Amino acid sequence: MKIEKEFSRFAHEYGKYNVIQEKVAQKLINELQSQPKEILDLGCGNGAINKKVFWDYNRFTAIDFSQKMLDLHPKSDKVKCNLGNFNEDTLFEELVKENYEHVFSASSLQWAKDLDAVLYQISQLNAPISLAIFTSNTFKTLLETAGIDSPLKSSEEVSYLLNQYFRCEIEVINYELSFDKIDEIFTYIKKSGVSGGRNVLSYKQVKALMRNYPLKTLEFEVLFVRSL
Ligand SMILES: C[S@@+](CC[C@H](N)C(=O)[O-])C[C@H]1O[C@@H](n2cnc3c(N)ncnc32)[C@H](O)[C@@H]1O
Repeated sequence: MKIEKEFSRFAHEYGKYNVIQEKVAQKLINELQSQPKEILDLGCGNGAINKKVFWDYNRFTAIDFSQKMLDLHPKSDKVKCNLGNFNEDTLFEELVKENYEHVFSASSLQWAKDLDAVLYQISQLNAPISLAIFTSNTFKTLLETAGIDSPLKSSEEVSYLLNQYFRCEIEVINYELSFDKIDEIFTYIKKSGVSGGRNVLSYKQVKALMRNYPLKTLEFEVLFVRSL
């Protein structure tokens, strides 16, 4: 498992809250060694992967359980946006009938209810994978300051699960995003979707955390996996 570090600045003035997810999706595309024609994207969101696919493809199937996200996804006669939940076997019962040449999932699978089960289902699609999964050192110092355990699995746990089902290369990247003001950090967490919509802290606890948080940066840890 290779570990790397990368730094970015939060471009507040552009109102961009998905700085890290954009980088993650771009890395998955950059490292692809083929140009698959039949593509599946699980947890597609507003289309970060689709927008970066630069080659001509026959079909891009975009799955998300949020209709609001799917509404924002690019559409064309080659892009099929389907409402679906990767926690449900019924989704995979349909997907397994298709022949996908590549399966992407960017910044989504950390929210799987049972990652082991979802990875098994993905392996049954018999297609090469490019996945990026946020792991437990995301917001490390923030969570330590608040005295909260990460809701995410560690990179070791995720690697173990992946190695059960795939012959794959795994890389863990640590990103740091820097901010001018502490309140921008909390706005970012709220709006970026990286917290999975969970409000773990009360208003009072957030205020205390804002006073005590020692950094002007946010930490992210992302595990990338691709088929060998
Ligand atoms: C942080 S966003 C990432 C979106 C996009 N892949 C990207 O790279 O920007 C996570 C997405 O996963 C979707 N998602 C989370 N849990 C899901 C599930 N169980 N089934 C399908 N989609 C899910 C969310 O609705 C959201 O659009």
